[in-house]
Order: sequence, then C-alpha cells, then structure tokens
Amino acid sequence: MPLLKFFSFIRRGSLLLAALLVLLIVASACLGPQPTPEMLAPTVTPPPSDPEIEVFTWWTAAGEVEALDALVGVFQSRYPGIDFIDAAIAGSAGENARAALAARLQDYRPPDSWQAHAGQEIAPYADAGLLEPINFLFEQYGWLAVLPPQLISLISQEGNIYSMPVGIHRANVLWYNPDLLAQNGIALPTTQAEFLAALETLKVAGMEAPLALAEPWTDTHLFETLLLAALGPKAYAGLWTGVTDWNSPDVMAAIEQFTAVLGYVNADANDLTWQQAAQRLSDGQAAFYVMGDWADGYYRSRGLTLSEDYDWTPVPGTSGVFQFLADSFVLPVGAAHRQAAIAWLTVAGSKVGQDAFNTLKGSIPARRDADRQRYGAYQQAAMSDWNTNALVGSLSHGVVATDAWRSEIEEALQQFRATGDAAVLQATLAAACRTSGPCP
Ligand code: GAL
Repeated sequence: MPLLKFFSFIRRGSLLLAALLVLLIVASACLGPQPTPEMLAPTVTPPPSDPEIEVFTWWTAAGEVEALDALVGVFQSRYPGIDFIDAAIAGSAGENARAALAARLQDYRPPDSWQAHAGQEIAPYADAGLLEPINFLFEQYGWLAVLPPQLISLISQEGNIYSMPVGIHRANVLWYNPDLLAQNGIALPTTQAEFLAALETLKVAGMEAPLALAEPWTDTHLFETLLLAALGPKAYAGLWTGVTDWNSPDVMAAIEQFTAVLGYVNADANDLTWQQAAQRLSDGQAAFYVMGDWADGYYRSRGLTLSEDYDWTPVPGTSGVFQFLADSFVLPVGAAHRQAAIAWLTVAGSKVGQDAFNTLKGSIPARRDADRQRYGAYQQAAMSDWNTNALVGSLSHGVVATDAWRSEIEEALQQFRATGDAAVLQATLAAACRTSGPCP
C-alpha cells in the first residue's frame, strides 16, 4: 500500500514536521511584472478552461517573492483567465510547506502543483503514486534537449519523469562582508583551518558572533558543507549511496569542525529565519554566513551590491565543487485544475519563465539556453562553475536523501547542539543511514 507507506514516512520523518502541521501560513497573491509579447512561453493547446490554479511553494522571503511573482507574471500574461492562488507557506526551507502538503494529500486534496526538490525528496511521492509522469511535456517542448542530463536522472524513475526543474541553486557558498574582512586584515579563507583563524581574529577584535546562523535547518545546511570539505566530492557522494562509512575519521573531522565553528555563531540563531541571518551579515553584525545562493536574491532585492556590500567564495575546502539543488514543480494525480497545472509547468519549463524567475532568485536556470547577460555577476560565476566543477547533491535540500533521512540527521545535529557529544552524533548519523538510507 504505497500511499500508507508514504504517510508513515511522513510520520516517521520528524516530530517537528508533525508539529508544524498546524502552522499554515498562506501568503497573499501578488501580481508580477508583465513581460512583453515576445517573451511569452509556448502555448498549451487547447488553452485551459480552468478558472484558477493553486500552487504550493515556500517562497516567502525577499528575493524569493519577487522571483515567484515574475514567474506568475509570465503565466498570467499567457493565461489571463486563470486566477493564480499563491499557497506559499513560509519557513524551514520547505519543512513547514511539506507538512501542510502532507495534510492536504492525506485528505486527497492536492494543490494543482507544488514545489519539490529534484532528487530523493520526490521519490516517495512518486512511489506512492501521487505524481503524474510528465514525459509528454518533455517530448512536446523538447525539454530533454535543453536540460542537463544530471537533472533528468534526478527527476526520473524507471523512465517516468516526475517534475519540471525551474532553477538550480548552489549550497556551498560562504557569503562575507568585504568591509569587515578588509578592516580586520583578513584574507579570504580557502581552507577550514584558515576559516577558523579568520573567525578567531574577528572574535578577538570584539565581534561577538562573526558567523551568522539561523533556525535549525541552517545547522544542517552548514554541516553538509563541512562534510563536503572534510571528505571531498567522491567520499561525500558515497555517504548517500552506502559506499562511504559514516564511522570514518573524515566524518569525525567534519563534526569537530562543526563544533569549532559553532563557537562563533549568534546565540539567537534558533529564532532567526535564514534571511534575518543574512541581514546580520549586511548589517555588519556578522562577517560570514554559509547559505545557499538564494542569499544573492535576498541581498539584491534589498538593494545591496555584490562585492561592495556582500561577496562570496566557495565554502573553504570545497572550491571546484558545486553542491547543488534544484527547485522543480510536479503534476499531482487528481489535481483539481489539471489543465492549468500543465500550463504552469509549461511556463516553468520555458526559457522565458526561467529567465524571469532565476534572474531574481539567485539561482541559475535549469535550462542550458539561458540569456546569460541578463544575470547578475554572482550568477554568471555560478553558471561557469556549474559547467566546470564537480557536482554533488545537497542534503538539506532534497537531492541526496529523502525527507525522512534528512529529518533524522537534523534531529541528531540538534541533539548534538544540546549535548556536545561528538561520538554519539557520529553513531546516530551512522544509524540513520541504516534506518533511512542504504547502509546495511
Ligand atoms: C530551499 C529552496 C530554495 C530557497 C531556500 C530557502 O530549499 O530550494 O529555493 O527557497 O530553500 O527558502
């Protein structure tokens, strides 16, 4: 009974996930900029007669909202008769939205489309028969030819394609405040040892919390970059396939580095959203922040300028590696407005839609035929790195682990923050690979 299995997975996934079921926050719908006629996406034939479409995302932060609005703007200019119902639910990098989604699915009331990360996060939904394959759209619009093959395999099972990726984000980014580094004579750290030394210099200079941190999922995000730094891309990838031993000394090295850097973070981290932590950096309260490149979208939406107000470098020890994730949209089985959902996927998959969205989001388009010069300097660098770097998937954002496995790791990291027991953390991580991952 795959559906029951799916919901037991949701239940097992996280206590937090269950608790957050009650925290449904529906953001207001916004109209986006109107694209010119030549920017229109390909037409769905026949045009949908659905009066509305309800789309679930967790894009409610500055930068995210503008990007979603721009995508909705393309959709509405193409399909002016369809009301866009923005069912975005804020917080926890999608954990809250996925909890609310689980409740809707349990009631057999799926939204017409929802944001899902390409990779393992989608698999349980597909296994439970909750998603329609959308190969027909890939064939109709030639998407197989314009999307990177790595992404196609992450959204496919046994030849069925289950979502349309709209953009690609990078997780292993160290944002920094260039003025603070210059004032304190700090060179850009390229190793984790240099990173610790830089944090210590800032602390000695009187900065209380030089590394910004936010709510618990950002601990997991930070930790996955430290795993990558300690293990390198090959062994990091092996953690998720059962090849790399979670009990190895390299994993312990990542835990030790995690312990060390946590000595430099703000005490109110758990009360902050990722964007509030980003703001600490641009306000000069913190000098560094490990966060995905939606932070670039945030800073730009705040009118800040790359290399003057904020800047970036790969997380020390991860240069030459692009730790990625991809946001995508699905076609649920039983969508009340299926034709409108198909139209939405068509817009999300179009060059016009992707350029409108990603230019504001901080991500790079999933399509390879982007209008490069329309993108910011950070994004142009990310486009080059995506093409030349080693690629590994993100843990916190659904690529390498299911939501159940990710939740177990997140809970282990939170317990570790309370106890500081590194040996227990490593043993718990190894156990999580056995219960929720591929480890024997
Ligand atoms: C990620 C998502 C990004 C961004 C981020 C913070 O999981 O893929 O698009 O929204 O959460 O909300």
